[in-house]
Amino acid sequence: MMATDASLAAHLTAGGDADSHQDPFAEWQARVARELDLRLPAADTAPERLHAAQRYSVLGPGKRVRPLLVYATGKSLGIPENQLDAAACAIELIHAYSLVHDDLPAMDDDDLRRGRPTCHIQFDEATAILAGDALQVLAFQILARDPAAPADPARRLKLIEILADASGTAGMAGGQALDLAAEGRTLTVAEVEEMHARKTGALIRASVTMASHCAAVPDSRRACLDFFAAKIGLAFQIQDDLLDIEGDPKVIGKAVGADKEHKKPTYPATVGVPAARAKLLELHDEALAALAPLGAAAAPLVALSNWLVARRS
Ligand code: IPE
Ligand code: IPE
Ligand code: MG
Ligand code: MG
Ligand code: MG
Repeated sequence: MMATDASLAAHLTAGGDADSHQDPFAEWQARVARELDLRLPAADTAPERLHAAQRYSVLGPGKRVRPLLVYATGKSLGIPENQLDAAACAIELIHAYSLVHDDLPAMDDDDLRRGRPTCHIQFDEATAILAGDALQVLAFQILARDPAAPADPARRLKLIEILADASGTAGMAGGQALDLAAEGRTLTVAEVEEMHARKTGALIRASVTMASHCAAVPDSRRACLDFFAAKIGLAFQIQDDLLDIEGDPKVIGKAVGADKEHKKPTYPATVGVPAARAKLLELHDEALAALAPLGAAAAPLVALSNWLVARRS
């Protein structure tokens, strides 16, 4: 059956919390913004332009999806928020860096991000490259030595390992290379899924896995959560691809139609919009099913998943 907006609404209502609130996660979003603000270099210390670009790129109005996944996973596992702040900040810093570089002329060449000029437009290309570099390093500095990171050195090392794997060639950077190499080409569905799993899915999975490594958690529970995250990660990029076709640029805060312009073989470009929507719903169902062993404790992740697949921005 083809998924329409009406069937999406029915599906979400059946799945639990629907997208009745525009922004049901405001407290966690505000929390991570505060924590990031504290850890970013001050704009009035040298080099001021670099620091201003870092702050501009991180503290702009992003949805904070990855930190929300960290806090929601932590809540589902009974881990206090103050034990999750370092992971939440680190993953958002890697994400922000990936966006700064993704928007560069050598990559997607975009002028608008989060409703504002992209970093290289607001500042300049060299500053944007360096801001991305410095944000990436800050993420690992936080995991290595921030007082909010787990006290146990083995746990810290595990968080560093997860984030490094998700950011490197096996994850985001490799996926971005696949994305650029795919411009103008036709990919198989399996190839698109591999590209999406790496460029976007890897950081989504790392958000959940890092949270589950902030405390002692049974491996079986971690495995359910990882399966959930893999499904929701692919769903997230399919939704991003769909929004590039049918989103409202005023709501989405970035250009619409850019993927087609760059001849990107996105998920909907490969299988068609109706099949992409149907896949999104299928992945959402599979993600929720993976949470079943957590029972009622999974409610924050269920609510977050519902919000993610229904989002318009
Ligand atoms: C956009 O990510 C880039 C992708 C990986 C799809 P988000 O949609 O999470 O962007 P922000 O952080 O809310 O701006
Ligand atoms: C970006 O995917 C994935 C990243 C690793 C940043 P897109 O290129 O589709 O993200 P948007 O649409 O520019 O946000
Ligand atoms: Mg891109
Ligand atoms: Mg892009
Ligand atoms: Mg996109």
